[in-house]
Amino acid sequence: MKVWIPHPAGRALLGELPPGVTVEVAEDPSRLPSEVAGVRFWVPPFLSGVDATDLLGRLPDLRVVQLLSAGADAWAGRVPPGVTLCDARGVHDVGTAEWVVAAILSQVRGFPAFALAQSRREWAYDRLCPTDELAGKRVLIVGAGSIGAAVRARLAPFGVTFTLVARTPRPAEGVHGVDELPALLPGADVVVVLVPLTDATRGLVDEKFLAAMPDGALLVNAARGPVARTDALVAELATGRLRAALDVTDPEPLPADHPLWELPNVLLTPHVAGSVRGLLPRAYRLVAEQVRRFAAGEPLVNAVSDGY
Ligand code: OXD
Repeated sequence: MKVWIPHPAGRALLGELPPGVTVEVAEDPSRLPSEVAGVRFWVPPFLSGVDATDLLGRLPDLRVVQLLSAGADAWAGRVPPGVTLCDARGVHDVGTAEWVVAAILSQVRGFPAFALAQSRREWAYDRLCPTDELAGKRVLIVGAGSIGAAVRARLAPFGVTFTLVARTPRPAEGVHGVDELPALLPGADVVVVLVPLTDATRGLVDEKFLAAMPDGALLVNAARGPVARTDALVAELATGRLRAALDVTDPEPLPADHPLWELPNVLLTPHVAGSVRGLLPRAYRLVAEQVRRFAAGEPLVNAVSDGY
């Protein structure tokens, strides 16, 4: 069985694989390492977009596409029948949860403004203090999956309270449904968006969503850019009523002349939440486990269905 992976370092990280498994490195889908015939298990490059999916139709023996990303939006619905699409659920919990905590603390404690003051050698105590604080904040997590749980575990010691929202309400666990958002948003100081991008979540953060957030609240998007309507974000954030921390935008990369760059109440990072040094070891542990399962005829984990 031929397995294609995108990183040369992945070979060592995979460790020992079952007999009969050959691993080849396909770093760039436009430069293939060997014949397309015989590739049964393909790991596309991390966060490769729709362009990489072109290769799907050219791999006649493909049975599994194992993504290195938590999000499967570029792939869901594009994988041919008979091919199982798996995401990297679990691999990004640490990196993304750390980004969310860092982004919330940065915004709440005013770090972007202090960093700007530092670049001007300005001792900005009188101008910028007192800052807001995280203790006591009401945090609404929209997307109660494994990253949501990791965010919650890391934020809990700061003395915040949580409300969780998911596609399917789970009353026994206190998880609300998405249709309850209009009632929940006015009671949230921090709204963390972690949902996958699907037809149902595209544009979820729109004018009404933002208008329902109370004055001074912080929107954190570590999901996908199109989960928020960019025009609505720009219009609401330009009033200064809300704050935002965005790791993802629509479009990406954000063009240099885009109005989001200019807003002082917005912290922007270039889709980096999952890109930490521990990513590849964690990701290839999952790939190795999946290859072993596939070779043994066992069910794979993290199979994507309906974009989830
Ligand atoms: C992911 C991401 O989906 O990092 O894993 O955006």
